[in-house]
Amino acid sequence: MTEFAVRRLLIDLDSPFPGRWNGGDAFRSALFNALSMSFPAGEQFFMDSVRAGLQRLPEAERLRMAPEVRGFVGQEATHRRIHALFNDNLARLGYDNDIERRALRRREAHKDDDLRNQVAATAATEHFTAIFSDWLLRHPEVLEGAEPRLRLLWQWHCAEESEHRCTAFDMYQALGGKQAWRIRVFKYITYTFLGDVLRQTVRNLHHDGSLWRWSTWRSAAHTLFARDGMIRGNYGQWSAYFAPDFHPAHQDDSQSRAWLQDHTADYSVVR
Ligand SMILES: [Fe+2]
Ligand SMILES: [Fe+2]
Repeated sequence: MTEFAVRRLLIDLDSPFPGRWNGGDAFRSALFNALSMSFPAGEQFFMDSVRAGLQRLPEAERLRMAPEVRGFVGQEATHRRIHALFNDNLARLGYDNDIERRALRRREAHKDDDLRNQVAATAATEHFTAIFSDWLLRHPEVLEGAEPRLRLLWQWHCAEESEHRCTAFDMYQALGGKQAWRIRVFKYITYTFLGDVLRQTVRNLHHDGSLWRWSTWRSAAHTLFARDGMIRGNYGQWSAYFAPDFHPAHQDDSQSRAWLQDHTADYSVVR
């Protein structure tokens, strides 16, 4: 089992930032704003399902996984807190967080599902965050021109997502989750997560007044569908999840480790 440090990022989120904080680029800002809006409810769900999974394990397994779960929960709780501040800033600018309402409705609709499926949904979403994180750390130009504190916020979150990418997956396996359900839930999460993020991105662009600008969709095409863009460049990583012997530990985490080593001055270790 791995134990993760819980880090406090040394940035100030009290002073305001503009809606187009990402280099003035409307699409890149709207997309990241949509992702941030999804995090507090999503990360609460991840913490709750993994913690509930831990309680369900036989004692020996529970003792074995407890330190890793503690680190996972500590990291996600810190992310949730800081993205809530980020989202408060967006709310003050008049952005409407619909993705959170949708996530909470969906959580309510699935609250009586088998716990293993809730952990499978967490593992599936964590696969998305892990491949997105590695991609973003490999492509710092996606945050080109961003306010330094916000670039730091996104890269720190990505580094930790990559670091704890195995926890929910290992919990699903420890609970005896079946392969077929892992895949079925992953397809469902792909459909709902991408759909929700796209919908919120469009909503953000509409609020920003840039939905119908040519430059917005040129940036979208480049960010998502360039050779190593967010969608096209990650197709192989996404589809790897379907392999029967898939395990997130096989994914490269060198970017994450390098970032955490190079930025020790930007965070303090809480525990
Ligand atoms: Fe997170
Ligand atoms: Fe995570």
